[in-house]
Amino acid sequence: MATVVLVSRPAGVLSKLSSCCSPTVLSTASVQQRKLHHAVVPKGKGGRSSSSGIAATVFGATGFLGRYVVNRLGRIGSQVIIPHRCDQYDLMYFRPMGDLGQIIFMEWDPRNKDSTKRALEHSNVVINLVGREYETRNYHFEDVFVNIPQQIAKATREAGIKKFIHMSHLNADIRSPSKYLRNKAVGETAVRDEFPEAIIMKPSEMYGREDRFFNYYANMRWFGNAVPLIALGKKTVKQPVHVVDVAKAIISAVRDPDADGKTYALVGPNRYILHDLVEYIYAVAHRPFVPYPMPRPLYHLVAKIFAMNPFEPWTSPDKINRFHTTDMKYPGLPGLEDLGITPSTVEQKAIEVLRRHRRFRYLDADLDETKPAKTVSY
Ligand SMILES: NC(=O)c1ccc[n+]([C@@H]2O[C@H](COP(=O)([O-])OP(=O)(O)OC[C@H]3O[C@@H](n4cnc5c(N)ncnc54)[C@H](OP(=O)(O)O)[C@@H]3O)[C@@H](O)[C@H]2O)c1
Repeated sequence: MATVVLVSRPAGVLSKLSSCCSPTVLSTASVQQRKLHHAVVPKGKGGRSSSSGIAATVFGATGFLGRYVVNRLGRIGSQVIIPHRCDQYDLMYFRPMGDLGQIIFMEWDPRNKDSTKRALEHSNVVINLVGREYETRNYHFEDVFVNIPQQIAKATREAGIKKFIHMSHLNADIRSPSKYLRNKAVGETAVRDEFPEAIIMKPSEMYGREDRFFNYYANMRWFGNAVPLIALGKKTVKQPVHVVDVAKAIISAVRDPDADGKTYALVGPNRYILHDLVEYIYAVAHRPFVPYPMPRPLYHLVAKIFAMNPFEPWTSPDKINRFHTTDMKYPGLPGLEDLGITPSTVEQKAIEVLRRHRRFRYLDADLDETKPAKTVSY
């Protein structure tokens, strides 16, 4: 049977404790003792088969960002607990991301407080990536962006865990026309109130292979390459960030004791007018770009029809508002560089997303032929 020793948090002191104290001494060492498997006592030189001392519960791991975060945690030798609500067989792609027995799946019902508590019982880091682009009959934006994060933050605090990372959005604002972004703003405050030392990450729209940003615009080619943009996209400025940079930022924040209690604005290095960005997307995909101005009410009307899809709506009026919101600038907030990450440019990474939108004859076409998108500074 596996040995279980009783040690106290934080994980950073685990190595010292384990080298100087016997399990018996440790078992009476503090009032806030927790069961921690020997597998998470730091050891080894780094890498997937070592142990980083991190035991992280990642809520929302099954989403777009989640797989990158779990992989990054796994490759430094962390134990990752993945609370999920889908079938276990749909999670098998996580298995190779960590060493044997280091990726643990647990069924989770966000409405059941005990199941949330159980999911983080043996962890020393909690990461909340729960999110949804559209509302469902069961879960409104308020549930997903306010109530669930608040409940996770509360359970994390009550369990005595010191590290909690919460994902918000760069444009979270209570006055935003997007309900998603309004609820993100309320969620940030709710999490801060519940867990003042929480690390809040505010990424702009993320792009990457499975994204719903670059792929969304590139998929409009199915409608005859005609891309509807409010005011031709000339009044919106975007500063997209690569998903891997965001995942790296989360891992750096987990390992950095100075990150606690801070809010990070995670953005790419360049700002683009939405029109120019979408034009670049089409240029990389080697598809003709035919933008046309669509008045917001008409665009909303069309989007409402798509939003009636009972499965996964491709777009919605709220998504249109969110994509046509200019990315905020936060000169006072720390960013990727403060976590030791050099942000990737769209020109470096867009091809990873867009190659699959090319016709066969252009699959290997050189990227140098594509003119980079114009950047702006406002
Ligand atoms: N994608 C972006 O460009 C972007 C930009 C800024 C901020 N963010 C934020 O960053 C976080 C991660 O983004 P993402 O793109 O990875 O999100 P995502 O792909 O939509 O994944 C969301 C995750 O949340 C889970 N989830 C959603 N509703 C749930 C519910 N009612 N109960 C339990 N689990 C639920 C999903 O689980 P299931 O698989 O079971 O549905 C999934 O694991 C989110 O908070 C998002 O708002 C994203």
